[in-house]
Amino acid sequence: MITFVFRKKIDHYRISSMKVTNFSETNSLLNSFVREIRDVTIQKERFRFRRNIERLGEIMAYEISKELRYKTIQVTTPLDVAEVSVPDEEIVIATILRAGLPYHHGVLNYFDGAENAFVSAYRKYKETGHKTFDIHIEYIASPSIEGKTLILTDPMLATGSSMELTYRALLTKGTPSHIHIATIIASQQAIDYCIRNFPEEKTSIWAAAIDPELNDSSYIVPGIGDAGDLAYGQKD
Ligand code: URA
Repeated sequence: MITFVFRKKIDHYRISSMKVTNFSETNSLLNSFVREIRDVTIQKERFRFRRNIERLGEIMAYEISKELRYKTIQVTTPLDVAEVSVPDEEIVIATILRAGLPYHHGVLNYFDGAENAFVSAYRKYKETGHKTFDIHIEYIASPSIEGKTLILTDPMLATGSSMELTYRALLTKGTPSHIHIATIIASQQAIDYCIRNFPEEKTSIWAAAIDPELNDSSYIVPGIGDAGDLAYGQKD
């Protein structure tokens, strides 16, 4: 069993040229799906919630695909030969259990030839008030990520520390050539954290929306609530 424990460290701010895409700044159908996962009168319908997360993963995959390297191949049709450009990168989609599962499947629906990595990360609260916690990573199932394009998916990017820990755990499987951090709702704090803690020259961040703050329990506000519970039911 591997245990990585996140401890708070001092961060140094640096100016970054990392690309951060916030889809809520553009009018598109994506915002209707975000509306449905946020809306307290709609989000409790679990099947619909999971499907909306999956749909957002599909859109995110499509948008990320525009940034990949392509090659031209020839395809034989019944009538002739057609030239088609297809992605020329090996992709690994990595997900943090459990909330990330429907999002992972959405991304995988489009990158259907991708390899897959799963990491467990959970918050271990230090007291009953649920104000301070360590993040524990205990399980990794991953192919080699050496020289590959790594898509790190987590629907809720609250502090950024689970994402960073997941990335560091996956580095035991090689060094990726590019990293796409794909999230649905991020806090501004988490975006800033990722900019400081991921390699600037090869990381891109994709968020359906970026919310202004975290509450005392590090939940995103206005956010959606607990994504894992909404998708799969409350845990003990
Ligand atoms: N995880 C969630 O499910 N929701 C949040 O707001 C933050 C982390």
